[in-house]
Amino acid sequence: MTRDWVGWHDDYEDPGSSLSRRLEVVREQLRPLLDRPRRVISMCAGDGRDVLPLLPAGSQAVLVEWDPVLAARAREAAPDGVTVLTADAGTTTPYASVAPAEVLLACGVFGNIPYEDTARTIAALPSLLAPGGTVIWTRAGSEAGVVRDLFAATGFTELSFTAPPDARFRVGVHRLARDPDPFLPDVRLFTFV
Ligand SMILES: C[S@@+](CC[C@H](N)C(=O)[O-])C[C@H]1O[C@@H](n2cnc3c(N)ncnc32)[C@H](O)[C@@H]1O
Repeated sequence: MTRDWVGWHDDYEDPGSSLSRRLEVVREQLRPLLDRPRRVISMCAGDGRDVLPLLPAGSQAVLVEWDPVLAARAREAAPDGVTVLTADAGTTTPYASVAPAEVLLACGVFGNIPYEDTARTIAALPSLLAPGGTVIWTRAGSEAGVVRDLFAATGFTELSFTAPPDARFRVGVHRLARDPDPFLPDVRLFTFV
């Protein structure tokens, strides 16, 4: 990893930052999905601030984050039922204990991996999800259109797409509208660039 991801999180301390605004949108979209205990995956979870405060008691969640400082912060904030793995989120292996998940977060992922990896990851999501499972994802700028197309081509229905005109971030919510695929461990999804 070459980037200072701990420093990247500092923008969350400014309530007017684009990152803070994105967080509000992600939470708004997530709240109704967490209306009862759920099985949840967060890929590249950072410090988990999007999902951890909203998790209903009785939920089972796996957050996967490579950076040990951020993973420790997430672990500190995590209620019972949450496992924070300091691990590579780019294979299916760390999700074995929670798949099939009802809710999956891929926030801050697709902007940091090549197109081929984005396509491969989205194609593999039906193997991590329960029937009707929902994905919340983010991507900056016009490339979000490509991500929407990939979800559509993989059998997802778009529930919402937020694109504020005065910001570059985009937040999509897609529900699996076909049968899930069986879970397979050790499948490579992506590698961060
Ligand atoms: C853009 S940040 C997004 C963090 C969080 N999802 C959010 O939206 O606030 C990307 C995160 O991915 C983590 N990361 C990078 N490569 C990873 C990998 N291979 N496995 C797990 N996490 C990784 C970074 O440490 C960083 O916390």
